[in-house]
Amino acid sequence: MKINNKKNISLDKFIHNSLYAEKTGYYMTNNPFGKEGDFITAPNISILFSEMIAIWCVAFWENLGCPKKINIIELGAGNGELMLQMIKVFEKFKKFKISSNYYILEKSNFLKKIQKKKLISEKINWIDSINEIKNGPNIFLANEFFDALPIKQFIKKKNKWFEKKIKEENGKFKLTDSITNIKSLEKKIGINLSNNQKIIEFSPLAFKFLNIISKKINRFEGGLLIIDYGYFEKKMRNSLQSVYKHSFNNIFDNLGKSDITYSLNFFLIKKIAKKLKLNVAGLTDQRSFLTNLGILDRAEIISNNLKFTKKADIYYRLKRLIDKDLMGGLFKVMFLTKKNIKFKMGF
Ligand SMILES: C[S@@+](CC[C@H](N)C(=O)[O-])C[C@H]1O[C@@H](n2cnc3c(N)ncnc32)[C@H](O)[C@@H]1O
Repeated sequence: MKINNKKNISLDKFIHNSLYAEKTGYYMTNNPFGKEGDFITAPNISILFSEMIAIWCVAFWENLGCPKKINIIELGAGNGELMLQMIKVFEKFKKFKISSNYYILEKSNFLKKIQKKKLISEKINWIDSINEIKNGPNIFLANEFFDALPIKQFIKKKNKWFEKKIKEENGKFKLTDSITNIKSLEKKIGINLSNNQKIIEFSPLAFKFLNIISKKINRFEGGLLIIDYGYFEKKMRNSLQSVYKHSFNNIFDNLGKSDITYSLNFFLIKKIAKKLKLNVAGLTDQRSFLTNLGILDRAEIISNNLKFTKKADIYYRLKRLIDKDLMGGLFKVMFLTKKNIKFKMGF
């Protein structure tokens, strides 16, 4: 990556370039999932995860009164594993299967190819923009989607706000603080970000997505299920990190080969949701969500009559998903709906 004409660039632009630049971006050239990659996501740990999400979708559809059409839209489908396993479950719910249409919003052509190969026998619509969704109701699924979107960082020093930018000096990248007018950003988005904060992490792209999704939900019914790394506290933290081959890495090292990510502040998402006239129908951690949906019972059923080693593998994977110190506690689940919806399953 080059920073031209000696100008500083914002952190979100820098992250965008290193993750999504056409020929060199991390997600545009890599399959990051699994042992060989840099991280592993819940659907790739155990099919039990996808089964629970599928059952939850069917239950939400029933709660909506079993509409004749329902769109399942996965945001950022990675290697397509979640969609593949969910559709297998939907086969068992004939009425739901007939009513459902599947969409994947995917930015990376490289991953799109992997998804198309994996989902070759399914009828999936790949879309480039949420605006292509013209009807509803819609169930938007975002597993580790929002944490893959570029963020801006702001820091307060002596009562003044500065934006973190990147500059190039003697061929090396450096972070620099550039004075900024935080009030003008707050005015633009209609949300106070800076009150009682020393640091702000804000993703303009995530805000854009929430905005357009809220319009679809409020117009056509449905909801958005967010499952992601994150925390509930109001106070924002510096959560930016870079991961290279399952280990932490300096954000300027291994550019295009490492994943740059952050933890979502669910307090801020709640605030944004309120502003967009969405209802926070549920907020909990991944452990509670999956256990409330019956993942332990399901593990018992599928491991019945299996050899000890197979059974141990199922429970080892389950532990990764629900242990408080692992994904069970680190990941949070949020469900955003239209105001009138009362659906609490999993929460
Ligand atoms: C961390 S991966 C999660 C993959 C998958 N949901 C899973 O659980 O395995 C993030 C995914 O979001 C996609 N993505 C990131 N930004 C996007 C954008 N602006 N529009 C569509 N997809 C995007 C990435 O290419 C990747 O497929």
